[in-house]
Amino acid sequence: MDFTILKEQFENKKVFVTGHTGFKGSWLLLILKKLGAQVVGYSLAPENKEDLFNQIDGAQYCEKSIIANILDAEQLKKEINAFQPDYIFHLAAQALVRKSYDNPIETYMVNTIGTANVLEAMRTLPNACVGIMVTTDKVYENPERGTAFVESDKLGGYDPYSASKATCEIVIDSYRNSFFNLQDFNVHKKSIASVRAGNVIGGGDFSKDRIIPDIVRSIQNNTAISLRNPNATRPWQHVLEPLGAYLLLAAHMRQHPEAYNEAFNFGPAVDDVLTVKEVTEIFLTAFGTQHHEIAIDLSKQVHEAKLLMLNSEKAKLKISWTPKWKALDAIQQTAWWYVNDKKAAHLRCAEQISNYFNL
Ligand SMILES: NC(=O)c1ccc[n+]([C@@H]2O[C@H](COP(=O)([O-])OP(=O)(O)OC[C@H]3O[C@@H](n4cnc5c(N)ncnc54)[C@H](O)[C@@H]3O)[C@@H](O)[C@H]2O)c1
Repeated sequence: MDFTILKEQFENKKVFVTGHTGFKGSWLLLILKKLGAQVVGYSLAPENKEDLFNQIDGAQYCEKSIIANILDAEQLKKEINAFQPDYIFHLAAQALVRKSYDNPIETYMVNTIGTANVLEAMRTLPNACVGIMVTTDKVYENPERGTAFVESDKLGGYDPYSASKATCEIVIDSYRNSFFNLQDFNVHKKSIASVRAGNVIGGGDFSKDRIIPDIVRSIQNNTAISLRNPNATRPWQHVLEPLGAYLLLAAHMRQHPEAYNEAFNFGPAVDDVLTVKEVTEIFLTAFGTQHHEIAIDLSKQVHEAKLLMLNSEKAKLKISWTPKWKALDAIQQTAWWYVNDKKAAHLRCAEQISNYFNL
């Protein structure tokens, strides 16, 4: 990806990031720093001591790091209006499928109402603003037909997380029609896109119930790796893939604010899929612990799609985005990050950002 396009559109620009304390948000802070953007973040505090945000001291990459709830619509509006951002990247979410079964109402509130709160705050901005609203590949109704989803496919959601994100898509579309309609662009000057990417992996993720953090914890604690859905096939991506795509789309939107107000899939090549078990084995080999015990635990299984693929032709055609690292590279890069833990986390991330963007 051409970093100069990003630099042109982000240097000295104001970027408001929700979810900046999360896994993707922390990596985004590091890229935005390299781009010379001014960042204000708005999120809850990181949950765990070892979270990437804490490891890189994420607040130092922000002009202001606001620890507050996305459901506090008044504070959110106040902060967005005080900053007057050129861009909003909305990542804040209850992002875990399993947790959504335990806390469905909270998931719907944070994800769906939280997204509406961001859009509503954006509506009150007087100046031009580009909004990148992060949803997921799980927004599609998934009859597991084996074909890759295109953006116009029917929305759905079996579990509360997926449904809450599908609902976000409907809210975003409604704002696009009702308040940010292209016909009135010269009045409101807002452009919004929703972005749908799949499971991401990368260094610094310590969330519960995600495959790589689960493997790393098992290695650290010398316990068996417990797999719930070993044969589930996923399109694995390195975290830099969707983040690069979000930034590239936003850069295009800033240049042509009337041309990209829609949904975009950002997935790996459709044949670049691996099962959960294959990912585990490749990671263990890359980590140098290939004989670590793997246990299959079907008792903790909740419904998860066995197969989920995205067709990202639209992103290729409209913004010339294609994935760079294959699943194998993504796993190896991730293992490298966890193995080299003598080096400071921000330096490990910086090295991978430089590799990814050919800097
Ligand atoms: N990680 C993945 O594999 C993946 C895949 C597809 C889509 N996504 C989406 O990408 C986005 C970022 O995911 P992530 O992996 O970084 O998640 P994460 O769980 O690591 O981070 C979530 C962020 O949202 C913030 N947040 C949660 N509830 C909040 C609230 N009530 N008020 C304010 N902030 C709140 C957290 O503080 C944190 O900063 C999410 O929207 C997620 O649904 C992630």
